[in-house]
Amino acid sequence: HEELTKVKNIGKIQMGKYEVDTWYYSPYPDYYCNVDKLFVCEFCLKYMKQLKTLSNHKKECTCTQPPGTEIYREGKVSVFEIDGAEETVYCQNLCLLAKLFLDHKTLYYDVNPFYFYVVTEVDSTGCHIVGYFSKEKCSAEGYNLACILTFPQYQRSGYGKFIISLSYEISKREGKAGSPEKPLSDLGKLSYRSYWQYVLFTLFDSTMKSGGPMPSIDEISAATAVKAEDVISTLQSARMIEYWKGQHAIKVDAGKVRTFLKGFKDKNLRICKEEYLTWTPPK
Ligand code: COA
Ligand code: NA
Repeated sequence: HEELTKVKNIGKIQMGKYEVDTWYYSPYPDYYCNVDKLFVCEFCLKYMKQLKTLSNHKKECTCTQPPGTEIYREGKVSVFEIDGAEETVYCQNLCLLAKLFLDHKTLYYDVNPFYFYVVTEVDSTGCHIVGYFSKEKCSAEGYNLACILTFPQYQRSGYGKFIISLSYEISKREGKAGSPEKPLSDLGKLSYRSYWQYVLFTLFDSTMKSGGPMPSIDEISAATAVKAEDVISTLQSARMIEYWKGQHAIKVDAGKVRTFLKGFKDKNLRICKEEYLTWTPPK
């Protein structure tokens, strides 16, 4: 990809109350590049070169939340679904902003074939963008997520796994298993591995407690919307699967499962809860 060789063109951005150092090149129009700092309206995501322009914009901008439809609300966390074909400028602005933290994804202007799921934290001033994921309206490869991002000021607080779990809750409602688009970044891989272990081990734990038989790979996939190949790779990395006479056999290590889940409880655990998701598949 051509973008890989391109030099970082914007040093930092101002987003709401946060000043954030950028990570990568993003194809903002030339006029806005090579500035020390770009000012972004945290609600409509319009970008400006000067603080004064942003101050004037704030007086006129009536947005206090993303466009689209709210599909999830749990306490301070609210998620909006945005159709790329309906809110083209907002979604293009989101892609440009996200590219500052993504090193290889190359979608910026053709946002029509995608839905965008924007996660926000709500306070008295509005819904502040935390991160998002995008999803192709029709994926021939069965991808349920194209790009995922938690903005740096919100990273390592559990939002990555929240966004991943949301993508799988949506897949469950569609009645089909999905997988993220490849390649994943190193941070993306870590987050997926962590989420997959969490859902599999939680399932094993409740199966052990109920005394029922361990589910097969296909049953795990049906219950979690995690694709069979991802179930297998997760079990392989946890050394809980054997390949024998042409068949996979799951060998759950009860101690390992319990230790892992105990460690998880001490972390910032945010998982999308299906009772707060009002989303239904498009007709
Ligand atoms: N160093 C080491 N591990 C990290 C890490 C870091 N800086 N950031 C995240 N992780 C790992 C941890 O293993 C964590 O799991 P744990 O809670 O079991 O320790 C796991 O990632 C998820 O953490 P979480 O807080 O849920 O994720 P996040 O909100 O920080 O978001 C990403 C994760 C991948 C969305 C975020 O790092 C990001 O936006 N990165 C830039 C964009 C990107 O690479 N996207 C994926 C490619 S499309
Ligand atoms: Na986070």
